[in-house]
Amino acid sequence: MSLVDLDGLLATARAARSRAYAPYSEFRVGAALDAGERVFVGSNVENASYGLAICAERAAVAAAVSAGHREFRAIAVAGPDGALTSPCGACRQVLAEFNPEMTVVFTTPEGVTHMTVAELLPHYFGPFV
Ligand code: THU
Repeated sequence: MSLVDLDGLLATARAARSRAYAPYSEFRVGAALDAGERVFVGSNVENASYGLAICAERAAVAAAVSAGHREFRAIAVAGPDGALTSPCGACRQVLAEFNPEMTVVFTTPEGVTHMTVAELLPHYFGPFV
């Protein structure tokens, strides 16, 4: 299995960001999830009932799982350029379900960084099936 191309994954997340539906917050986010032989993308999908917004990360996980993929190596998240866009708490828990050691690439005002899901969410709820 090839090494994960984190720069390429972030570029794919940025492309997915262009398809975000975020008319309420105008905070557009794209995610790219490396599932080994395939990469799945997601973007945030908001709703007039604000609490129903779906984050880009969870949209990508849902697309991958729906296509039969559950083994994830890395996810890249791209929000507005220069904004801190690390996964929200709910998304961290969803990512932990599939691989707490997954690499998460995201942007900060200082630049691009990466860490594992377990680093982002210590003591995540489990155990898993
Ligand atoms: N959002 C994401 O899609 N991913 C994140 O990592 C942070 C937040 C979305 C949810 C909402 O549509 C908008 O960004 C503002 O919170």
